[in-house]
Amino acid sequence: MWHKFIISQRNRMSKKTNDFNSVAGMYDSIANVVFKKSLMESQLNFLDELPQEGHILFIGGGSGKILPDLWKLRPKLHIDFLDASQKMINKAEKRLRRKPNAKIRFISGTENDIEPDATYDAILTFFFLDLFPTEKKLKVAKKLNTHLKKGGIWLHADFNEAHTFMQRMREKSMFLFFKMVSNIEADKITDDSLVFDQLNLHLQRKKINPKAGVYSAIYKIETLD
Ligand SMILES: C[S@@+](CC[C@H](N)C(=O)[O-])C[C@H]1O[C@@H](n2cnc3c(N)ncnc32)[C@H](O)[C@@H]1O
Repeated sequence: MWHKFIISQRNRMSKKTNDFNSVAGMYDSIANVVFKKSLMESQLNFLDELPQEGHILFIGGGSGKILPDLWKLRPKLHIDFLDASQKMINKAEKRLRRKPNAKIRFISGTENDIEPDATYDAILTFFFLDLFPTEKKLKVAKKLNTHLKKGGIWLHADFNEAHTFMQRMREKSMFLFFKMVSNIEADKITDDSLVFDQLNLHLQRKKINPKAGVYSAIYKIETLD
């Protein structure tokens, strides 16, 4: 019995963290059932704040559900779409297969695979930073921030800390599920605004959907002028 327990613990410990490959096929359906359209809406909220042209980084974009809308709105933007799950990337690529002029690079990897001297006019993090516990979240966000151009913007969408009993229950079941299937690193929702404050990024606009417990925000890098 102990032998089995030790093996199962060893397997658990050796499993890759934040691995969405096994849920890539059903992620969007689960999100739809639990949150209806609110996750999608929160990502669409501030897309029209993006510049018409330039270079943006979309990290942890999953199956790229918003890519067709993003392309329609800003067809000239160059997008680096970076996700750790190859299966998610495959799904995202399919969505733009009929748009051969789309200026998008699909990159399978993490923040550590961003080209060292790459700089972006905007960074998009939608339901991505919540995978990390506070310290790691700050570390990842700091790394991303080094790639944001002066005057660049950061579009962010994520979960709010739970306030109601129902939201707490939903948060607990969500983390339990994604711990099990994706071995996500975080155990709970933590306040993202503290992370952005430490990076000297300034909140420009915020839209909260209290019922769904999600929000979208635009941050801008502080400049002296
Ligand atoms: C919770 S899903 C969100 C997907 C999408 N943004 C959405 O809202 O539908 C998180 C995504 O982040 C990706 N991911 C996890 N860790 C990552 C990392 N360090 N770098 C890049 N992508 C990562 C996962 O593969 C997954 O597709």
